[in-house]
Amino acid sequence: MSTQQSLTQWDASVMATYGTPALVLVKGQNATVWDADGKSYIDFLAGIAVNSLGHAHPELVQAVSEQVATLGHTSNFAMHPQVLKLANRLVELTDPSARIFFCNSGAEANEAAVKISRKTGRTHLVSLVGSFHGRTTGALSVTGQPAKSEPFLPLLPDVSFIEPNDVSALQASLTTETAALWLEPILGEGGVIPLTEEYLRAARQICDETGALLVIDEVQTGIARTGTMFAYQHAGILPDILLLAKGLGGGLPVGACIGFGKAATLLTAGQHGTTFGGNPISCAAANAVLDVIDQESLQERALQIEQAIRNSLVGCNGVQEIRGRGAMLGIVLTADFGPNVVSAARDLGLITNSALPNVLRLVPPLTITDSELSQGLEILKTAILQTWKVQP
Ligand SMILES: Cc1ncc(COP(=O)(O)O)c(C=O)c1O
Repeated sequence: MSTQQSLTQWDASVMATYGTPALVLVKGQNATVWDADGKSYIDFLAGIAVNSLGHAHPELVQAVSEQVATLGHTSNFAMHPQVLKLANRLVELTDPSARIFFCNSGAEANEAAVKISRKTGRTHLVSLVGSFHGRTTGALSVTGQPAKSEPFLPLLPDVSFIEPNDVSALQASLTTETAALWLEPILGEGGVIPLTEEYLRAARQICDETGALLVIDEVQTGIARTGTMFAYQHAGILPDILLLAKGLGGGLPVGACIGFGKAATLLTAGQHGTTFGGNPISCAAANAVLDVIDQESLQERALQIEQAIRNSLVGCNGVQEIRGRGAMLGIVLTADFGPNVVSAARDLGLITNSALPNVLRLVPPLTITDSELSQGLEILKTAILQTWKVQP
């Protein structure tokens, strides 16, 4: 079926929540994908920071294929080796006090954290202006983007939003009534805005002083993307709750809400659950992702990707600033022509995304080769120059 035929069928059968996608993709190999008309693209978006191992990585394919052919689903009435292995690894990668609730998405990881926060006996939550934590009602309640939440009001009451990187706002808004503070180490959907290490350390300290839980949402930053397994590690802190999804499954749906210390035990038997959470296939995928991150040194690779992108785009006409870390970078443009760059790049054979009208978000697969990276960067520069020139 051609791209045009697929687009027509989509509109006739799929709810319009995303608008009609511009692309019909049928195949992928590492950081290259092909559309229904046979055209190839370099993928700098990786399914929005999900395909950490690129497309069709042989170890991921093998792990998932073997698992589905062996034991596909158990429900939470039985455990299985893949979930045990993954849980143990996440404990080893974080802290011995960690206890994990497995789910299927970032929003669900956030929902679990909202419920844990309620078990402190407090209800006040603090989050950041511009933050994004998911589309379910609890996650949306701590999302600082009114355009996304306003059609669904009233959401959870008692949520305060403060500006990122403002320590005095943290001090003013967190009290001994606050249940939890919600932070993304780099606000992804909000425009690739990094929180400083000093800010994260101050947040840790103020949470300790007030007894509020520090919830770090690493749905986008986690799993090697910023050059460490988790972005909070750059600041030398440990959250009370860590949220993961996206890159953890490398394309299979898996999320995790990881509690540490007292937050590890606030939810008790019967208080939370989900049918597919921790299923064997998703856990096998996540175990393969963690294996490949080690084998292919993908934490280091994330830093090399950052360097290559910075070297290529710094000083480019139309580029004002490059922010972010590792393989999660925001290219701040000199004006609001991000959507034009995205469509020009697509015509030229590159998939990217504009998190804000003036900010491109680059989150390529961590396995991207040097050649894919340089081809993609050449296309991106051409697209920026083409669209920048036509700015008033
Ligand atoms: C930081 C963050 N948290 C939560 C979510 C929601 O994840 P999901 O779309 O898997 O529900 C996202 C998705 O973009 C995200 O970037």
